[in-house]
Amino acid sequence: MKHIFQQGTNPAKPTLLMLHGTEGDENSLLAIASHIDPEASVLSVRGNVSENGMPRFFKRLAEGVFDMEDLKIRTEELYEFIAQAAKEHNFNRENVIAIGYSNGANIAANLLFTHEDSFKGAILHHPMVPNRETALPDLTTIPVFIGAGTNDPICSAEETTELEKLLTNAGAKVEVHWEEFGHQLTMPEVEAAKIWYDKL
Ligand code: MLT
Repeated sequence: MKHIFQQGTNPAKPTLLMLHGTEGDENSLLAIASHIDPEASVLSVRGNVSENGMPRFFKRLAEGVFDMEDLKIRTEELYEFIAQAAKEHNFNRENVIAIGYSNGANIAANLLFTHEDSFKGAILHHPMVPNRETALPDLTTIPVFIGAGTNDPICSAEETTELEKLLTNAGAKVEVHWEEFGHQLTMPEVEAAKIWYDKL
């Protein structure tokens, strides 16, 4: 997959896997990565799907309606890519924290839903419930930060709470941070994610 890898200065730090929203690319979240942890390595990936020229991580049939077959295939593709990238760039596959926004948060959530060893932790900005067909694996002790908006028209507050419950029931340690905004990723939300990350 097309990506940027930036070697961190502290090898003990996790590798931050950056997953952009629809219309973003591998450059979109680099500033957020260096804000969250300036010493960490960064693997920032571009989604392989193009929707009228807009990069995404999986196809959708309409706004908020996912192509479940494609989601499954793309989730496996990304899972395999992370392992390959760990070999190529020589980082510890077991020490990866995903940071995704919107469509990128949705594929990160689906990785959590389908593999118990996807990530050491995850920051999900405005995720939806990625699928309701899977029995979640054991996610005991995996820390997950969810950034949500009380007025998010794409991901309702109810859906955020549903996602929180599904992850918590699988054993994850979930923290939901609410902003009174919509679907946009705001600086206060990034700051809240940083405070959460610094406590890991
Ligand atoms: C999705 O398709 O993943 C969600 O609707 C969010 C987005 O607009 O990308």
